[in-house]
Amino acid sequence: GNTKKIAEDLLGHYDVRARRLPWRAPPGANAADPYRVWLSEVMLQQTTVAAVIPYFTKFTERWPSVEALAAADDADVMAAWAGLGYYARARNLLACARAVANERDGAFPDTEDGLRDLPGVGAYTAAAVAAIAFGRRAVVVDANVERVVARLFAIDIPLPNARPAIRAAADSITPETRAGDFAQAVMDLGATICTARAPACGICPLRTDCAAVLTADPAAFPVKAAK
Ligand code: ADE
Repeated sequence: GNTKKIAEDLLGHYDVRARRLPWRAPPGANAADPYRVWLSEVMLQQTTVAAVIPYFTKFTERWPSVEALAAADDADVMAAWAGLGYYARARNLLACARAVANERDGAFPDTEDGLRDLPGVGAYTAAAVAAIAFGRRAVVVDANVERVVARLFAIDIPLPNARPAIRAAADSITPETRAGDFAQAVMDLGATICTARAPACGICPLRTDCAAVLTADPAAFPVKAAK
């Protein structure tokens, strides 16, 4: 089918349109720093990109490495986190930094399974860090990705029952190479074009690949759970 074409179209768009976010390696640079990728992904759980950016900048200026964060006072980290919410994330953040710094010599695990063993790192974060920081082929699915994929394949099963089909479809379009760029390209598409309400299908790089575009109402996907 057109699964290869979807990745090609999306990566071609990402090459010219990627958002320049502070945790992303600039174009042409070496792979992103695992510490910065991990920190950003923990902050981005349940928090928007716009809200995270100033916190990410503050944290990385004050604690530029996992060793620096591991050596911080708990109270200083909790105070710096204030405003981001979900304070269990901050406590897990410190526990994870200390595990990596003290038990792994500062090196993050470079596989999804290894990352999953760290405090506060769940399936989503492990996949995102494996792909973005280490170039592993991993299937990264958050709410934005769910929406994009449900539309691309016009998956008409209501959530949450649609999740296995969405994951299988996301797996089918994830390329062997550039999985980190691909994951972030899907996230950018979901945040800027394939938005929940009023998607901008006319300017979407995947409009010729998208099954929902052929329906009367792309915004109807993913189908909400019956109430
Ligand atoms: N949301 C979660 N992770 C992200 C990333 N790496 N880029 C943009 N949005 C995100």
